Formats: sequence, C-alpha cells, structure tokens
Amino acid sequence: NKLEMELEAIEKGGYDHFMLKEINEQPRSIADCMRGRLDAKNGRLVLGGLRDYMNKFQNADRIIITACGTSWHAGLVAEYLFEEFARIPVEVEYASEFRYRNPVISEKDFVIAISQSGETADTLAAIELAKSKGATIFGVCNVVGSSIARATHAGCYTHAGPEIGVASTKAFTAQISVLTMMALMLGYQRGTLTESKYVQLLNELEGIPVKVEKALKMNSNVEKIAEIYKDSRNFLYLGRGYNFPVALEGALKLKEISYIHAEGYPAAEMKHGPIALIDEEMPVVFIATKDTSYEKVVSNIQEVKARKGKIIAVVTEGDTVVRGMADHVLEVPDTAEAFVPLLSVIPLQQLSYHIAVMRGCNVDQPRNLAKSVTVE
Ligand code: G6P
Repeated sequence: NKLEMELEAIEKGGYDHFMLKEINEQPRSIADCMRGRLDAKNGRLVLGGLRDYMNKFQNADRIIITACGTSWHAGLVAEYLFEEFARIPVEVEYASEFRYRNPVISEKDFVIAISQSGETADTLAAIELAKSKGATIFGVCNVVGSSIARATHAGCYTHAGPEIGVASTKAFTAQISVLTMMALMLGYQRGTLTESKYVQLLNELEGIPVKVEKALKMNSNVEKIAEIYKDSRNFLYLGRGYNFPVALEGALKLKEISYIHAEGYPAAEMKHGPIALIDEEMPVVFIATKDTSYEKVVSNIQEVKARKGKIIAVVTEGDTVVRGMADHVLEVPDTAEAFVPLLSVIPLQQLSYHIAVMRGCNVDQPRNLAKSVTVE
C-alpha cells in the first residue's frame, strides 16, 4: 500500500535500491566499525571482545575460519591477513563442508565464524561442532544478539548497520575491517609485526574510509561499462593475492543479482582451464592494482588480450601500463597491499548493481535467494 511504499522510500534514503544505498554507505560503515577501536594517533587498537581471549588467540596452533557466501570471501581475505601479519597458519572452510567432513579440531585451535546475519544454519552447526571439540570460537557478526553471536565464546560486531539488500556489500567491507584489526593486533602482540610497521598500518587503515569515498566516484564510469556489457552471457573475474578473494566476490555479486554466469579465479589459474573460454565475446574483469603480483597480472592481461577478450581492469590511481592495454579501467586510490580489497571491491559492487538494474532484475530481492539462510 501507499504508506508502506512511502516508508520504504524513506528507508532507502533517496536511493532507488537498498543495495545502492548500502554500497554508498561504506565510507561511514567502515568508519563506524573502527570507531572506538582504532586510535592511530596514539598507536592503539582495542577490540573489547578479544580481551579475554587474546592469550588463546596469540598462542593458537591454527586459526580456522568458517563461513558461507560473501562472508566466506571475507574469510579468505583474512587468511592472507593473519598469515602475513601474525604468521599463524589459517584454514578457511565453507561451513557446510567443515561440519560434515569430520574435521581435525583441538583445544589449540582458534575458530572464527563470520556471518552478517548471525543466523546461517551451516555456520551455526560448524560452530557447535568445533565447540564440542574444545576449540575457542570467536564470532564476527553484524546482527547484534543473533544466534551465532550468542553461540560463540566471544566476538566482535561489525557495526555496519542493518543490511537489507540480499547481496552483501557493506557487511563484507565491515567484516574485512574487523578481521584486519584482529590481524594487526595479533601480529603486534606476537612480535611478528614491528612497532613502526604496526603504527604505519594503523594510520593507513584509519584513512581507508576517505579512500573508499574516492573509489565510489568511479560510479559513472562503471555505469558506462555496464551499458556495454549488460547483455554478456559470461564474465570472468581474475585477481591474485589479496585480490583473489575480491575476484570471487565480484563474480558472486554479478551472479546473485544479474543472473549472468560469472567465475572468479586466481589469475594464474586461468591457464589451467578458463583461458579456453576466452574469445571476443568474453569480458574479463582484472583486479590489477599496484602490488607485489602486479607484473604477473599484467602478463595475464596480455594473455587475455592476445585472445581478443574484452578487458575491464581495476587499477591503482595513476596507472599507465594497464591503461594502455585494457578496454576500460576503473581507478582506486593507492593503499597498503593488505587493505586493497576494501577499495578494489567497490567498483565490482557497482558494476553488478548497474548491470542488474539495466537488465530489469530485482536488485534487492534476487530470485531464489534469501538474506539469511536458516535451513541447511
Ligand atoms: C546468504 C546471503 C549471502 C550471504 C550468505 C551468508 O546466501 O544471500 O549474501 O553472504 O547467506 O550469510 P551470513 O549472514 O552468514 O553472512
């Protein structure tokens, strides 16, 4: 009815869809997530939820991350973060696989469950299983008081605010923000991260919301690219290192709301299969920011170009090399390599959004999907 429609319009805050509103909220949601926790000026990082479990965390033999969907992608980013900064081995598991494969778990394992809703049935069951084996379970949830938040020993909320669009956007970047803070804290406490590097990274992290704001400005460029490729039947997303999970997330976003088949791959794996798919009809999204794998990604781009694939590249501001090779480039600000996913995912969220709108899809409530999956 009319009143309900008006209420919804108010909730959307002037945006056509919740998803677009939530994409644009990210500078604020990330800042909210870090507020009261990160104080770069004084070199301080406080995560209240971790206080009583810091000892267990620091001395864990292994970190096991379990989640589903987009939250699982945040977990993959965390694997790179924890291993780089804290030098503790990490495993990232789909909750549905973890719970049914009789996993090896002990009291020396620190299990992190990531869930926006805090209600995902498989993730909840994975937690119960790990708990029964004596592991410490830490939750990274968005919904306060949710089942997962209650089932874990301790946790840290993402504070992204309510996420209404089924395709997760701001919850994803908030999850990564929390996991980044955890990794930095852990690295510093364990001595695997020097004080100066730690302080430098804290400062960079504090500046991320402003950089996200800048990344969002690519929106009109993204829209033009969406117009060109909206009728494509397939998409390939390629990235390496920290951008590999971003490639997976970009592809998932497109599948979820545009119903276009998309695959995310580590760029180097392309030659082991997906390269066979490349022809002049195939848009390939490269996440090619300036980082340690940049040169390698550039040669992957050349391989696609040689097969006449269409190249859409997310690059670091000021990049000229990839610009000279790609059909389209989308720039994101420069940052520490470990923080790149918080920026490089932004244009990919926007790309899936615009393509879905142009195809007339129900962006906020895509067919067959639910915001929280409480059945297995
Ligand atoms: C559903 C949603 C996804 C979400 C996944 C995990 O499939 O549609 O957007 O990533 O569940 O949800 P969670 O609430 O556990 O993060």
